[in-house]
Amino acid sequence: MAELDLQGLLAEVAREMEPHRGEGAVADYIPPLARVDPRRFGMAIITCDGRAAEVGDAWMPFSIQSISKVFTLTMALEKHGEALWRRVGREPSGSRFNSIVQLEAEKGVPRNPFINAGAIVVTDAVLSERRPDEAIAEIRDFFRKLADNDTIDIDREVAEQEAATGFRNFSLANFMKGFGNIHAAVEDSLHTYFNQCAIRITCRQLARAGLFLANGGVDPIRGERITSAERVRRINAIMLTCGHYDASGEFAFQVGLPGKSGVGGGILAIVPGHAAIAVWSPGLNEAGNSQVGTLALEKLVRRTDWNVFD
Ligand code: DON
Repeated sequence: MAELDLQGLLAEVAREMEPHRGEGAVADYIPPLARVDPRRFGMAIITCDGRAAEVGDAWMPFSIQSISKVFTLTMALEKHGEALWRRVGREPSGSRFNSIVQLEAEKGVPRNPFINAGAIVVTDAVLSERRPDEAIAEIRDFFRKLADNDTIDIDREVAEQEAATGFRNFSLANFMKGFGNIHAAVEDSLHTYFNQCAIRITCRQLARAGLFLANGGVDPIRGERITSAERVRRINAIMLTCGHYDASGEFAFQVGLPGKSGVGGGILAIVPGHAAIAVWSPGLNEAGNSQVGTLALEKLVRRTDWNVFD
């Protein structure tokens, strides 16, 4: 990888994105997301050998939303091990992120940890008989540690408005509670979930936080094992197959990397053995994934051999 000029690469991709900036529709279900400038674009790369590059608005915090689900999955697997898979599956759903349709047929066990129902179960597993504020602090501190940055925090306005408008998530959680698959009080699990989604993070911090997923579970900069190599393989597999909901196949086809999107417009993509990439552009496509962010990743991968299928 020494031959790659990362900064030059990102500058070229950013130039190519120029005519596309502003494409897609910014999430508008809550005002703090609706008022984000759709022309924002940032991208950051960090490699396993510690080289970093960034372009555009990579310094600017955005709402992490569903990308947080990768990190809570890591935490829940560390806490509960393989037993977690009794409560959540690992098959693509082919449905939208907030769909309820499969839950009844599958007796309250969500298809995978990245659709909302699955992520709520995972958060309930992280919460695990504690007070929500303890679990929220633990999740926030996990990000602070991984990103090596103590300024990462929760946007209270976003968290409150997620709760005020999260009727579908309440339905999903209550439905699963009926099957015994939510162990805490529904409001506590959801309070924790809404707060994890409301973390503010920059592309630079997000790429850094995800680096252990590119490096067999070890943060290569601090030399600390975060999780096992086997777990990382599995988390990456689920990111590839389920990380973009009903557009996961299309993302694998276009980009060919494990990735996780959020409605804030961010995407974390992992190049196993090489690098973590974070991109942010708030306009979403019809599946709720960053339109320009996906295009930028596609262009980046074309200029490199960073594709798990090569
Ligand atoms: O649960 C929700 O509705 C949001 N807080 C998170 C959804 C999300 O990011 C879906 N991803 N594209």
